[in-house]
Amino acid sequence: MPKRLEIDWQWPKLLKSKVFFDRSAATTMRKKLVVGNWKMHGRLESNRGLLEGVRDAAITSCEVAVCVSYPYIAQAQSILADSGVTWGAQNCSEYDLGAYTGEVAPAMLADFGCRYVLLGHSERRTLYGETDAVIAAKFGAARAAGLTPILCVGETLTERVAGETLAVIDRQLAAVLNTAGVEALRKTVLAYEPVWAVGTGRTATPDQVQEVHAAVRAKIAAASPAVADGIQILYGGSVKPQNARELFAKTDVDGGLIGGASLVLNDFLAICRATN
Ligand code: PGA
Repeated sequence: MPKRLEIDWQWPKLLKSKVFFDRSAATTMRKKLVVGNWKMHGRLESNRGLLEGVRDAAITSCEVAVCVSYPYIAQAQSILADSGVTWGAQNCSEYDLGAYTGEVAPAMLADFGCRYVLLGHSERRTLYGETDAVIAAKFGAARAAGLTPILCVGETLTERVAGETLAVIDRQLAAVLNTAGVEALRKTVLAYEPVWAVGTGRTATPDQVQEVHAAVRAKIAAASPAVADGIQILYGGSVKPQNARELFAKTDVDGGLIGGASLVLNDFLAICRATN
């Protein structure tokens, strides 16, 4: 395994061409966003302390959200309502209603005040076989219910070493763009999560992250400079209080999607504060 993963981009033409995002035209000041992805963690009692702690910290340097397991969405709603902190789910069905035992419709999440829903997380893709097409269908259903999807994209280690990082992300994004259109990204958050960095303790370097984020923004800018300018692109993958500030300082990094560290109140708050 190489010690430092060099990026070997397959999109050089895009980066050199004039479709590359012209930063001088940028007008939007994107607010940073930090989202906790609790995954399948939490119980009623421990959630209370975590949710109240995040609420009472009243962070103002960034937007803060937590994506909790389905059973605890009502708890998040009751504790976070009327605070600056928003909440969401980690998945949803691509269907509106019907005979889909065990599934949760996007409108049900909206009923409980969810703003966000994570879609296409690498654990859904790899452990539950969610394809680009399924994720695109979920994306459409979530938006139709008024939710803001946090669309996760990212390459495996094998893909990175093979120099396929951007081709993979291009494919993952295209599945959504081709069905929903670029304008759909206006109320969408993107999260770049290299699979090799998720839950591994191994973080992408700030330069590696910036390079992918800039390329993704350039890709979107080719279709709509305004959408590219406004969209928040989060980084996720072993973000910790120790590395958050350096990552968030990068021009195209608009915050983070935080797994393990979002379960430890002081770590999560320190990461949120690293956006200032
Ligand atoms: P991690 O998870 O911070 O534990 O690496 C990130 C994620 O899965 O969203």
